Amino acid sequence: MASIAPRPYLRPLISEPAVRVSNFTRRFGQVTVLKDLDIEIGKGEFVALLGRSGSGKTTLLRTLAGLDPASPNEVETPQSRAVVFQEARLLPWKRVWKNVVLGLAGDQKDKAIQALAEVGLDHRVDAWPATLSGGEAQRASLARALVREPELLLLDEPFASLDALTRLKMHDLVLSLWRKHSPAVLLVTHDVDEAISLADRVLVLDNGKILAEEHIRLERPRVADQQFQAIRARLLGHLGVGVEAPRAPAPRKPEPVPAALAWAGE
Ligand SMILES: Nc1ncnc2c1ncn2[C@@H]1O[C@H](COP(=O)(O)OP(=O)(O)O)[C@@H](O)[C@H]1O
Ligand SMILES: [Mg+2]
Repeated sequence: MASIAPRPYLRPLISEPAVRVSNFTRRFGQVTVLKDLDIEIGKGEFVALLGRSGSGKTTLLRTLAGLDPASPNEVETPQSRAVVFQEARLLPWKRVWKNVVLGLAGDQKDKAIQALAEVGLDHRVDAWPATLSGGEAQRASLARALVREPELLLLDEPFASLDALTRLKMHDLVLSLWRKHSPAVLLVTHDVDEAISLADRVLVLDNGKILAEEHIRLERPRVADQQFQAIRARLLGHLGVGVEAPRAPAPRKPEPVPAALAWAGE
């Protein structure tokens, strides 16, 4: 009988799971997007999920968010969950604070103000969404997630459309919110460096399965040192993207010797 290969991604470092996906398969018509998938995410653990476009990352995230169907034997999650998508998805006809507490009962302005302050947007409480920059809009959608005090925070490429500097600021913000509120986090990203910079553990989804996992035990804030580069090279390898070894500088052509000097040296 063939032996069963160990599946280490079933065992997070943190023992008590917040999320458990067991033998989960998701099909759209004839196409199987997720196949016999097993994943656990520990309470308070920060997991990043990498995978090619179309590999099923959003499908998994939507399932964990309860937006797509799954039976409780296959998918267990905490009750309090919140999602941040790539686009902020704010209602343009509601002021920022109203967007933040949308769907919550009662007058929640104080709660909205507090969450907006946590993401550095206390000066935009009464603004209209159309007047926000891309980074501010994503901060507002993080505030909307925060007021729900989620035990599971699901982030679907939330920084993908931001410029590089804003993205770095958002990384710091997400890490500080994670430290303060300790939700389990699943961050879907295309960006290998982002995954290594932020997560406790990085998973690679391929062909509906977890192809690889890396525990990132580097101190935060993380710098792109040798260990970081080695993890990056392995992850890029799993994603089918080769990394070239740094090339030795091309030998320099000898400078043409000015005629006068050539003559002088003769
Ligand atoms: N509602 C749907 N109906 C049919 N096919 C879908 C649906 N949602 C996703 N898919 C398909 O499932 C695959 C995985 O999609 P998705 O989870 O969005 O990938 P990713 O987020 O990794 O780019 C794609 O081939 C996509 O076309
Ligand atoms: Mg997606």
